[in-house]
Amino acid sequence: MDKYAVFGNPIKHSKSPEIHSQFASQLNEHIVYTAILAPEDGFVSSIKDFFANGGKGANVTLPFKEVAFEYADTLTERAKLAGAVNTLKLQDDGLVLGDNTDGAGLVADLQRHQVSLQGGTVLLLGAGGAARGCIYPLLKAGVKHIVIANRTASKAQALAEIFSSYGKVTAAALNDIPDLVYTGVINSTSSSVTGDIPNISPQLVAQATWGYDMFYSAERTSFLTWVANNNDTCYLMDGIGMLIGQAAEAYFVWRGQYPNVSPLLEKAK
Ligand code: ATR
Repeated sequence: MDKYAVFGNPIKHSKSPEIHSQFASQLNEHIVYTAILAPEDGFVSSIKDFFANGGKGANVTLPFKEVAFEYADTLTERAKLAGAVNTLKLQDDGLVLGDNTDGAGLVADLQRHQVSLQGGTVLLLGAGGAARGCIYPLLKAGVKHIVIANRTASKAQALAEIFSSYGKVTAAALNDIPDLVYTGVINSTSSSVTGDIPNISPQLVAQATWGYDMFYSAERTSFLTWVANNNDTCYLMDGIGMLIGQAAEAYFVWRGQYPNVSPLLEKAK
């Protein structure tokens, strides 16, 4: 049976083994997918070991996405632009391909929810790895203008410069966000983890038609609760669909078949 795994630290609570097992059984394929705890300074030896022992592909999660980027022999365009790799594939020529399916997972989820991206103006909160991974896929999906706003403005500025030749991407500090009509707002900051929200003016989300929090939890996240309090018609989504979406994209990269995410999303509700 073909072997796959997710590498991270910590890894105990990863949903990836369950998600990929469900994809495989849905498609009548037989794979083994495990979760591997790599030592913080031991990702490369761990992954080399895995491929040397029959591994076909891997997912990579925190804190190894940047080291996986360095490790890959060859990179997709979207991984290069993300500066991080969440999917590795052992190719027939023996080289390891590094890809990044996070942004595609987000875009697929937004499209599945039928929110408008084409020609839209998106406010992207945060300028870490999660933000960087979704900018190119959002532009490719037709978003016209992305405003990256971050607590540390210089990080937003650095990201805007990376993507300046791919579309209209501008930067702002959280307390100085341009007062535009945003079609959608995405929270990529880790503030929801602690129940915090990025400190921005409520005015900015008042006209948004959709709001997305990359974080997810059983209850509505703190960010989405705040959006709802300031805009009662805004369509709200959390990051569970992005998680399942990035997994579906990875499955496709490895095996050339695109799983149906709907049964998993139904179950996750
Ligand atoms: P990830 O890879 O998940 O994006 P990261 O690279 O550590 O994680 O980035 C975390 C992001 O959340 C950053 O944009 C961070 O802002 P700073 O660059 O100013 O540190 C943002 N962030 C974390 N906690 C926040 C909070 N309470 N309010 C606003 N932004 C926050």
